[in-house]
Amino acid sequence: MVKHSVLIGACLMLLACSNATQPNLYQRLGAEDGINAMVDGLLYEIEHDQRIVHHFADSDIGRFHAKLAEQLCQLTGGPCHYSGSTMQESHTGFNISLADYDALVEGLIKVMQRQQISITDQNALLALLAPMYKDISYR
Ligand code: HEM
Repeated sequence: MVKHSVLIGACLMLLACSNATQPNLYQRLGAEDGINAMVDGLLYEIEHDQRIVHHFADSDIGRFHAKLAEQLCQLTGGPCHYSGSTMQESHTGFNISLADYDALVEGLIKVMQRQQISITDQNALLALLAPMYKDISYR
């Protein structure tokens, strides 16, 4: 019995240590610099995508950049607190469709590929963003 609890204790310590040294998604995406570069890249993709660029015609792009970077940082486990509007507040009235959402995600994937982010990490980020769809699109 004592032997078992020593073994279990050792296993738990090992698990705790291995978790402590594992970089989280935020770190794997390149931390602050990586996320800023990702948002820069996404803005470039949006600017060159005739399917969706019109949605941003009257937007404050500086604010969009800052808030999106902050949101991605918090979402992926970084040391940030998202201080922007809710997804529903900021997207209501833009009539964003599923096709629009897919176009933006397509742009994001291109950027992540350019930044040589692994497919696993690309999917991990997309999985965090997917539930927001219902608040962003109008149908
Ligand atoms: C993964 C999906 C998305 C995320 C995480 C996201 C995130 C954000 C964030 C953080 C903001 C800033 C909110 C604020 O100003 O406080 C924002 C604003 C905005 N988003 Fe999205 N967004 C997404 C999808 C889309 C899509 C698909 C479109 C249109 C094609 C879009 C169009 C806009 C526009 C036009 C604004 C600026 C609104 C304004 O000018 O006030 N977003 N989004």
